Amino acid sequence: MKIAILTSGGDAPGMNAAIRAVVRYAKAIGLDAIGVRRGYAGILAEDFVKFDAEALAQLDAMIDRGGTFLQTGRCPEFLETEPRLRAGEILRRRGVDSLIVLGGDGSFRGAADLARDTGIRVAGIPATIDNDLAYTDYTLGFDTAVNNVLWSLSAIRDTMDSHNKPTVVEVMGRHCGDIALYAGLTAGADFILLPEVPFDMNEIAARARKKAEKGECGLMIVLAEGAGTAADVAAQYKALTGIEARQTVLGFIQRGGTPTHRDRLLATRLAMAAVAAVAAGRSDRVVGIRRDEVVELDLFEALAEPRRFNHALYRAASVLA
Ligand code: ADP
Ligand code: F6P
Repeated sequence: MKIAILTSGGDAPGMNAAIRAVVRYAKAIGLDAIGVRRGYAGILAEDFVKFDAEALAQLDAMIDRGGTFLQTGRCPEFLETEPRLRAGEILRRRGVDSLIVLGGDGSFRGAADLARDTGIRVAGIPATIDNDLAYTDYTLGFDTAVNNVLWSLSAIRDTMDSHNKPTVVEVMGRHCGDIALYAGLTAGADFILLPEVPFDMNEIAARARKKAEKGECGLMIVLAEGAGTAADVAAQYKALTGIEARQTVLGFIQRGGTPTHRDRLLATRLAMAAVAAVAAGRSDRVVGIRRDEVVELDLFEALAEPRRFNHALYRAASVLA
């Protein structure tokens, strides 16, 4: 049995620890593993990495690095059948019968289509900073991204408080506000604006005006990009309160950087479970974490799970603000 591994979609801190664990665990149980560069595009371009002693040493040295040793990619061609059939032939020619995919739901759909069209066994490891896969409590990279945001929020607060100024900080999360929620709550933000919960700028402005009457203008709004832009929120704030709010868009600083111990540990546990699934001959599987237990599920059932928003945590953040 020969396993190929690739990283696809947005990179996420912890991917390197997962690649390493897949390769090392596969070898430990007598299987061969090769890497694919740049996601599905790398299969079609036959861009493979052989994990010889030198490549393994490089991979070992990247356990504490964000990003991905294999690089990642988006491959629109994979939405069509012919390129997937070609990918299956290329993998089989190299003796590969199993593919482990690190990515989000799009990457998992690509894996499922490949399995259906070619019979290659597939297993998915959830890796995206957005934490937007419902079947798992956490995705790889989320913890590091939240910690990156927290560090930035502290730094921004130091300077904003010194100037008695309000601030709007825009963080990542197109459809899922978890980064904003977890970082905003643990940073003690005054308002957290998310795609999951409608918000009213008049309420925010009323609170801001009340504070301003006492001479307190410092106020922190953490905004998920899926709920709007920092520029729009700051403009509305100014229009409703007459006070200028400074704005910061954190951008890619959130997605890179040294993975936390939680992400490295999660990477290791999930990687070993994914290898175990394909080694046992199972396909169309995903692995994840629920109540700190590693779980393995059917890929389609996992993707069909509706997203659950943590309303209790959101309420807690509102009560404490
Ligand atoms: P993520 O995995 O983070 O959700 P994307 O949605 O960008 O990221 O998907 C990554 C890649 O997965 C795409 O570029 C494409 O190669 C593949 N992919 C996405 N959706 C599908 C699909 N429905 N069918 C086949 N392949 C897909
Ligand atoms: O990795 C997920 C994510 O960080 C989203 O939150 C964000 O909108 C997107 O990726 C942006 O990434 P890119 O510019 O690479 O498409």
